[in-house]
Amino acid sequence: MIKQIHSFEYFLLAINELNETEKQLYEAALSAIAQAYAPYSNFRVGCSILLSSGNIVCGANQEVASYPVCLCAEGVALSTASSKHSEETIVAMFVAVKGKDGWVYDVAPCGVCRQRILEYEKRYRQNIALYWPVSEKTILKVSSIKHLLPFAFSGDKLESP
Ligand code: THU
Repeated sequence: MIKQIHSFEYFLLAINELNETEKQLYEAALSAIAQAYAPYSNFRVGCSILLSSGNIVCGANQEVASYPVCLCAEGVALSTASSKHSEETIVAMFVAVKGKDGWVYDVAPCGVCRQRILEYEKRYRQNIALYWPVSEKTILKVSSIKHLLPFAFSGDKLESP
C-alpha cells in the first residue's frame, strides 16, 4: 500500500490587498445578495463573475419550497454568464453570504457548484479564480477550482456520442 498526500494552495488577502477589479467584483457580490430569494433558509448568497471583457455579471440563490429544487448563487451567475455572454471567458468569481443576523464568513461553494465551475474551466480552457471572505477583513482566493475538487470527474473518459 502506498500512502499519498494531496495538498492544495490558497491565498489569504487583506481587503486592502485586493486590486481595483477585485474590489469591484467583491462589491458586486455584496450587491447581488439583494437579489437573493431565500425565504426558507434565510441564507442569502450573492455571486459575481468577471468576464474576459471586464464585464461583471451576477447571480443570487433562488429557493423553492421543495428544497432540492433551490438554485445556488454560483449556478445562477454561471448560467447567466454563459447564456448571455457565451463568447466571453469567465476569469474570476466572488461569493458572499448574509444570514438572518448579518454577514456569514468562510462559506465555500458547495460540491455541485464546484462541479459546475470545473465545467466552465474546461469549456473556456481558462482557470477561474475564486474568492470569498473568511472574515470581515480577509479574503480567501484559490486560483482554480482544481484546488477544491481533487480527483474531479472531468468527463474526459466519456465516450463520444
Ligand atoms: N447556496 C448557494 O447559493 N451556494 C452554495 O455554494 C451553497 C448553498 C444556497 C442554496 C440555498 O438557497 C441556501 O444557500 C442554503 O443552502
